[in-house]
Amino acid sequence: MDKEYLLAPGPTPIPPEVLLTMANPIIHHRAPVYEEILQEVREGLKYLFQTKNEVLIFASSGTGAMEGTVSNTLCAGDKVLVVEGGKFGERWANICQAFGVKAQVISVPWGQSVDPSLVAQALEEDPAIKAVFTQATETSTGALFPIREIAAIVSRHPGTLMVVDGISHLGAQELPMDEWNLDVVICGSQKALMLPPGLAFAGVSDKAWGFVEKSTLPKYYFDFKKELKNIAKNQSAYTPAITLIMGLAQSLRMIRKEGLANILARHARLARATREAMKALGLSLYAPKAFANSVTAVLTPPGIDGQKVVQVLRDRHHLTIAGGQDQAKGKIFRLAHLGFVNSFDIIMGVAAVEMTLKELGYGFELGRGVRAAMEVFMQK
Ligand SMILES: Cc1ncc(COP(=O)(O)O)c(C=O)c1O
Repeated sequence: MDKEYLLAPGPTPIPPEVLLTMANPIIHHRAPVYEEILQEVREGLKYLFQTKNEVLIFASSGTGAMEGTVSNTLCAGDKVLVVEGGKFGERWANICQAFGVKAQVISVPWGQSVDPSLVAQALEEDPAIKAVFTQATETSTGALFPIREIAAIVSRHPGTLMVVDGISHLGAQELPMDEWNLDVVICGSQKALMLPPGLAFAGVSDKAWGFVEKSTLPKYYFDFKKELKNIAKNQSAYTPAITLIMGLAQSLRMIRKEGLANILARHARLARATREAMKALGLSLYAPKAFANSVTAVLTPPGIDGQKVVQVLRDRHHLTIAGGQDQAKGKIFRLAHLGFVNSFDIIMGVAAVEMTLKELGYGFELGRGVRAAMEVFMQK
C-alpha cells in the first residue's frame, strides 16, 4: 500500500472535515444559503487577519491578490520599494515591472532577513516611494522578515503603503494586521488555511483604500472597489469558487475553535522540533538567524544533492517536501509544518528524512533527529 504524505509549503494537507464539506452538492451563489456562508466567512477572515476591515476574496492563486494589490493601489510611473530576499520577493518586482511601476530593490542575500534600517533610509532618501512590498515569510529560503519593525517605519510616512505577502505566513505566525499598521495583507488558500489552491485574499486598510481611490492602473477582474461593494452584500462580482468557499467556512470554523494563539503556538513548537531534529543530525539551517515557523529550509550535507533528497523521499518513502529553487536548487530541502500538521507528522517527516539521508550515504546515528523532535514535543 502506498500511503502518500505531504509536508510541502503549499499545497498543504486538508482536514477530513474540510474535504467532506467540499463533497456537498454545489449550491447557487446568488441564493440566500450561499450568502449566509459568505457572511460567516467574512467574520472568520477578519478574525484570522486580525482586522476590522473587509478581507477581499478572489478565485485565483495567491499571486492574483499580489497582482491586484499593485494594480489597485498604484499609478503608472509610481515608484515603490521591494524587499527581495528570494523567489517571492522577485515576484513583487516582476509584477511592478509588468504594470510600469518603478521598483527600487533592497537585495537581501538568500537565507537572510532584511535590516529594517535599510527601509527607513530608502524612505528618507525618496519621499516619493508609494509602497513597500515584502514577504512576511520568504518561503523559498525559510527566512522570516521583521514585519512589525518595517511597518512601524512605514507608518510614519503617510504617502507610503506597507504591503505584506503573508501567503505562507498568515495563520502560522503572528501578523496582526490592524495592530501592526499593515496596509495590505495577502494570503492564499493552500497554506495555513488548510484548503486546496484556488482562493486568494487581500486585507485592505483604510489608508490603502485611500490609495485605491486614486489608482489609475488598468484592472478588470482584480478590481478591489468592485469586490468591496459586492462582498458587503455577501456577494462577489463574478462566479465565486463556491466549493472552496464552503470549505473555507469549515476551515475558519476549525481555526476559531482551536484559537489563533493556540495555532501560532502549535506552529512554533512544530518548527522548533524540526530545527532541533535537523541540528541533531548535524545539518545546518539555510536561514540560521531569522527562521520562519511555517517552513524549515535545511542545507543538504556536502556531496548530497538536495534534489535527490526530495526525489528519494517522494519516490521511495511517499513523502512530498520541497527542494530549493534557482540559486538554492540542489543545496537545500524544505520541510513545511504549515496548516493541518501535528507533532506525529513531524516525527514521521524527520524519520523519512533520516532514512533517505542514510540511503544516500550520509553518516550519522539513525534516530537522533527523531529523538530530538520527540524531546521538544515532550517539553511542558
Ligand atoms: C510567500 C509566497 N508568496 C507567493 C506565493 C505564490 O502563491 P501562489 O502560488 O498561490 O500564486 C507563494 C507560494 O508558495 C508564497 O509562499
